[in-house]
Amino acid sequence: MNQRYRKTVIAGNWKMNKTPAEARALIEELKASVSRVKWCEIVLCVPFVDIPAALKATKGFRASIGAQNMHYEKSGAYTGEISAQMLAELGVKYVIIGHSERRQYFAETDVTVNKKIHAALDAGLRPIVCVGESLQQREQGVTLEFIRQQVKIALGGVEPSAVKRIIIAYEPIWAIGTGKTATADQAEEVCGWIRDCIRELYGARIARAVTIQYGGSMNAGNAAELLSKLDVDGGLIGGASLKAPDFAAIINAANQ
Ligand code: PGA
Repeated sequence: MNQRYRKTVIAGNWKMNKTPAEARALIEELKASVSRVKWCEIVLCVPFVDIPAALKATKGFRASIGAQNMHYEKSGAYTGEISAQMLAELGVKYVIIGHSERRQYFAETDVTVNKKIHAALDAGLRPIVCVGESLQQREQGVTLEFIRQQVKIALGGVEPSAVKRIIIAYEPIWAIGTGKTATADQAEEVCGWIRDCIRELYGARIARAVTIQYGGSMNAGNAAELLSKLDVDGGLIGGASLKAPDFAAIINAANQ
């Protein structure tokens, strides 16, 4: 973290978990467990149907609500889809874009990710854009080049003035839901590299202001070490965000 230049953002990615009633209960438990949130922004990326309940339950608590996906068109014949405007009108502030599960199971590509980023920014949402290599790519030594491509295509056509509103989440696919966390040095290497890529595209002043998260089996035990790295500006947390004491411990680690 380097809180002089950029905000630390701790975001929970609930994935397809929790009904609206369960969402309410988890947020109440979280509110009771979090002690300080002065130094970081908390985001809860909940299933679409939980959004109204989550917004209500977080009133008076310093947490924003995010969605986990959206369509890039404003409206139209896209059965089952949700637009950025629909989310914004509800009071949603963030949206995860290009999570590896969406890339793997729902055929998202770098090109659709780029379209979604534009649509999200146009609607006033802050995109949390996921990038990350597979185990095979890491073993082949092509991680950094692959990430550079993902970042470059994702940011295509984004105005310099809008870049600071984007959060990049570095999520190595081999670390997601596996209990296999990247070491703090591995996380720092790639998060720093992502900042280098942004610097190449937009210059140093903008690059140092962008929040870059790590995600992939971040938990109460390893968060402090990961967050101690200068280029790791927060976390995108799956499993551990579903347990209030664990998520609260991660938030507290970001407030040291
Ligand atoms: P995990 O998920 O923390 O359960 O590994 C992270 C994510 O998929 O965003």
